[in-house]
This record gives sequence, C-alpha cells and structure tokens, in this order.
Amino acid sequence: MGEVLVTGATGTVGNRLVELLRDRGDTVRALSRRSGPGLVTGDLTTGEGIEAAVDGVDTIVHLATTNRDDSGIAQTLVDAIGPDRSPHLVLLSIVGIDRNPLPYYRGKLATESVVTASGVPHTILRATQFHSFVASLLDAQRYSPVLVAPSISLQPIDVDDLVGRLIELVDSTPAGRVPDIGGPEVRTFRSLAEAYRTARGSHRPIMPLRLPGATFRAYRTGAALVPGGPTGEQTFEQFLAARDSLVP
Ligand SMILES: NC(=O)c1ccc[n+]([C@@H]2O[C@H](COP(=O)([O-])OP(=O)(O)OC[C@H]3O[C@@H](n4cnc5c(N)ncnc54)[C@H](OP(=O)(O)O)[C@@H]3O)[C@@H](O)[C@H]2O)c1
Repeated sequence: MGEVLVTGATGTVGNRLVELLRDRGDTVRALSRRSGPGLVTGDLTTGEGIEAAVDGVDTIVHLATTNRDDSGIAQTLVDAIGPDRSPHLVLLSIVGIDRNPLPYYRGKLATESVVTASGVPHTILRATQFHSFVASLLDAQRYSPVLVAPSISLQPIDVDDLVGRLIELVDSTPAGRVPDIGGPEVRTFRSLAEAYRTARGSHRPIMPLRLPGATFRAYRTGAALVPGGPTGEQTFEQFLAARDSLVP
C-alpha cells in the first residue's frame, strides 16, 4: 500500500480515517492548516504547501471543507496534482446535492464537477448526514425550553461506518461515482429528537417546524435519503449511547 494524503484530516471524518489507516500500518500525510505532530501543513485556500503535500502520494482522500463553496479548494488540489501525476482521488460528497438548492450543496456539486473534469483518476462517494451532525443540531438547542424538529426525514450515518467504506475505496481502483451511502434507518427528525431526549433523560416538548421554500421541500420529499442503497450499521441510539458513555 502506497502513501495516502488525507485533506480535512483534523475534521470529524478525517480524524477517524487517519487513525484507522495508521492503525493498520499505512503511511498517511494528514493535511491541516496548522502544524503539529503527525500533521502536514498546507492551506487549500491559498495553495501554500499543497504541491509538496500531494507530491509522491498514491491516494488522496479529499475531506476538507470551508463550510462555504468548496469548489475553489478542490480546484487548488487538482491543479497541484497536475497532469503528470495520477494518484487516486477519493472525494466525499453529500447525498441529494443535485436536488437541493442549498448554497453549500451547490458548491458541493461544483466540487464534484471540478474533480470529474480534472482528468485525475477518481472515486466520488456521496453520504447522508452524520449522526454527530444531527446531534450537533440538537445540542445547539440545549438552552431552549423546547426541541425544534423540522418536519423532514433523514437517514443519518455513523462516521465509523462511513470511514469503513472510505477505506474500502482507498483499497480499490478509481470507480467514478459509486453508490451513495446512508445510515441503517430512515427516521423523521422528530423521532431522532425523541431518541436524543430519551438519551438525555429530558422531557422537553418537541415542536414541529415546517418552512416554505425549495430547500425545505427538497428535504421533505426525500432528497437526503438513499432508498435501497448501501447502509452503515450503527443506529442513532447506538451513536448517542457511545457518545454519552464518553462524557465524564
Ligand atoms: N456533516 C455531515 O453530516 C456531512 C455529510 C456528508 C458529507 N459531508 C462532507 O464530509 C466532508 C468532511 O466533513 P467533516 O465534518 O469531517 O469536516 P469538518 O469536521 O468540518 O472539518 C473540516 C476540515 O477541513 C479542513 N480545512 C478547512 N479549510 C481548509 C483549508 N483552507 N485548507 C486545508 N484544510 C482545510 C480543516 O482542517 P484545519 O482546520 O486543521 O486546517 C478540517 O480538518 C466535507 O466535505 C463535508 O461536506 C458532511
């Protein structure tokens, strides 16, 4: 197995991916804008350090996100790879980005286009929302007397399950767009809020929320779901139980 560069290596997915790849003996360059033990420093916004980071690697897993339009940082990455190098570029994207006008999603669609147009051998995996992301939406309401639950359904996935799939893709040849992956259950947001409430031992009322507009309609009509697709195994309840067992 050759050398792997992980962008977004300090993030939610990257951190776990780097840990598991290193555990099995892979040589990993973990890209961050920061410097520190085990990190390779580079900034995909300015391009600083990126040529050196990509030089000589066999696989790149691109996970970095600016939480805005990420197509610019993807362009910086493929420009740094250049025409003379052909690592396998694995891009993590998001389910339903072509059915939802959310500006961040439009940027993700543009990011996919940058990769497909680059000529770099690649694999693109779209995933649903992470359990940790859903939990963060509920954690953010901790001082509210009610839990607001949008009237939508999601199919959240555990980061460990997603990382397992990413490792399979690292070990495979470039495949273009591969089947989307979601979590094991399609759940109303309300039922996810109920699970969260139970895990916290809380009795806060859950307030449904419906909003006008195309973004909300996209979620309501299943744009964030993976019907019949491959799924992870960990449920939201299992995620919450594992997370809460870590809280001192
Ligand atoms: N959240 C979800 O539910 C969800 C669902 C499906 C797909 N995704 C996608 O999965 C990917 C990974 O998400 P995540 O939640 O793991 O990300 P995250 O935790 O938000 O971490 C973002 C990462 O991007 C890096 N980064 C940001 N700006 C950078 C720059 N200019 N140059 C280099 N690195 C930069 C950060 O590194 P430093 O700060 O150390 O530089 C950090 O490691 C993203 O593309 C996201 O869109 C997310």
